[in-house]
Amino acid sequence: MGKDYQDKGEMPHMNFHVLTLFPEMVRQGLSESIIGRALSKGIISLETVNIRDYTTDRHKKVDDYPYGGGAGMLMQAQPVYDAWNAVAEGIGSRGRAGTEARVIYVTPQGRTFHQELAKELAKEEDLIFLCGHYEGIDERVLEEIVTDYVSVGDYVLTGGELPAMVMIDAISRMVPGVLSNELSGETESFGNYLLEYPQYSRPELWHDKSVPQVLLSGNHQKVDEWRLEQSLERTRSLRPDLYEKWVQENQEYFIKKAKREERKRRLERKRQWKTDKGTEALAEGNTEPKAES
Ligand code: ADE
Repeated sequence: MGKDYQDKGEMPHMNFHVLTLFPEMVRQGLSESIIGRALSKGIISLETVNIRDYTTDRHKKVDDYPYGGGAGMLMQAQPVYDAWNAVAEGIGSRGRAGTEARVIYVTPQGRTFHQELAKELAKEEDLIFLCGHYEGIDERVLEEIVTDYVSVGDYVLTGGELPAMVMIDAISRMVPGVLSNELSGETESFGNYLLEYPQYSRPELWHDKSVPQVLLSGNHQKVDEWRLEQSLERTRSLRPDLYEKWVQENQEYFIKKAKREERKRRLERKRQWKTDKGTEALAEGNTEPKAES
């Protein structure tokens, strides 16, 4: 069996299992950067299972023509089922109910993957991804083993490996310990419906463009306010659908903002009133502005 446990002694918080015809593609795609580091640290584990290893066909065939005719070939039920069964037994041998683990069939026909689903799936201990190829998979095996049909978007790819990798990446970021900055998985784009604010690093001036002054002020409250305003503005213009959701859940922000602005206007009126009184007093030859009643 094409297995690849990256178990470094520590108990992983999430075990991914991928049923695929291209295990190397999945392993390599997830071996670098943050996910690669989480795998080496044992925070998550990855098992890739080559479906072809489970075919009972003596020519190692895993596909056949669809009944009723039509273009292309279908992945057959038997090797997919036996590959899943081997994974379920493996999970079972670790004292968990292997057949209960969620099985995600990545398909353009599924519901669209999003951040909330990534968060929900990150709470599981084992996730099995089933990657299809050719024109799809025999419906009977899907009926028996699949719990979730999930798509990465309204376009068709040549196979399920890239979508599975996309989902594994997004889910892993939500697993505690995978990101070095624990907060960032939650606070970034979509975590609370808002897109991220613009960020700047050195130098202060680049191509005649300077870093916004507020970020250099050292005033953390002002920086936070500016960032939230930027996020709101960006979300409102780029993703009005997300902006609406945020507005609905954060009415209190707008109430506080309106109060802040009213207070500012009142102070400004008062300041203006004093200036006017001072000017009047000066004109009358009196240097002391009259007290406000
Ligand atoms: N397989 C092929 N296209 C896909 C998509 N858009 N999402 C998930 N799996 C797929």
